[in-house]
Amino acid sequence: MIGRIEELAGQTLGRVREAGTPEELEAVRVEVLGRKGSLAEFGKLMGKLSPEERVAAGKALNSAKTSLEAAYELKKTAFESAALEARLAREWVDLTMPPPGIVPGSLHPLTRIQNEIESLFFSMGFAALDGPEVETEFHNFDALNIPPDHPARDMQDTFWLEGGHLLRTHTSPVQVRGMQRLGPPLRMIAPGRVFRNEEVDPSHEHTFYQLEGMMVDREVSIAHLLYFMKTLLGGIFGREVTVRLRPGFFPFVEPGFELDIQCMVCGGEGCPVCKHSGWVELLPCGLVHPNVLRAGGINPDEYGGFAFGLGLTRLVMMRYLIDDIRWLQSGDLRFLKQF
Ligand code: DAH
Repeated sequence: MIGRIEELAGQTLGRVREAGTPEELEAVRVEVLGRKGSLAEFGKLMGKLSPEERVAAGKALNSAKTSLEAAYELKKTAFESAALEARLAREWVDLTMPPPGIVPGSLHPLTRIQNEIESLFFSMGFAALDGPEVETEFHNFDALNIPPDHPARDMQDTFWLEGGHLLRTHTSPVQVRGMQRLGPPLRMIAPGRVFRNEEVDPSHEHTFYQLEGMMVDREVSIAHLLYFMKTLLGGIFGREVTVRLRPGFFPFVEPGFELDIQCMVCGGEGCPVCKHSGWVELLPCGLVHPNVLRAGGINPDEYGGFAFGLGLTRLVMMRYLIDDIRWLQSGDLRFLKQF
């Protein structure tokens, strides 16, 4: 029996030392040292030996067990420290490396233009007002002199909502809210997001930005309108601009105009940007229609006003030479990082 124990011990020692993986090592331990392992089997046979044989066999069994356990522990520790080494090599961090650069965000070009125009108007005593994007039919149409059957309702493709509400198709309803809230005299602008049920293409979006402006006071004339528009455009373009008014129809102004600026690219000579006319259409405006003043609770016999609707999105595209309106709402960093 002693011989068989020693033979087993010798073989097992070899297997422990040669084990290639922790799993392999564990399998050997279970097979030999485990509770039902080979050494335990030898232990059970002890009872059948004579007392002298039992002492000798017991010693052999104990020393086999001791040396196998030691070899097992040694090998196990070796596996553990190899695993630790590997992990340290994998997860090593070089604390002397410079950190990845901080990339500062930047303002969206629309926000930038809006901020600029706002401070220009603030300096001329205008207040900036907000209005709801979900509007009533009254504020978006009726109060602006566009009754239900008026063909001008078809000029703008409206997103209708439940309960007679709609997504505002322009910022003009804020004129009405401004008059109702502040009363005359009044100087206000209202930048904001507007919505139209448009087929989206490089120059059309269902969502875009306008900036409404309105001044109501005694004896407001076209001269006032021109003065404020020239100041606005001079501020935006950073130099004096030549403007002209053409008649234009909008139900909420009378007379209504399209304001053109002399082409900044060719100086009025004619080029592809102005389609060889020397002029670029910039914003619609006019003197506020008496019906609109009335809807805002203002007496048109006492007060008059001018109003304009600046297409902020279009202005941004002109200023930064953006050729596709869809970039503006894309959230695409390749676009945004340029500002
Ligand atoms: N609300 C008009 C639109 O979106 C633009 C407009 C035209 C606004 C004339 C005005 C104005 O204030 O006087 O088409």
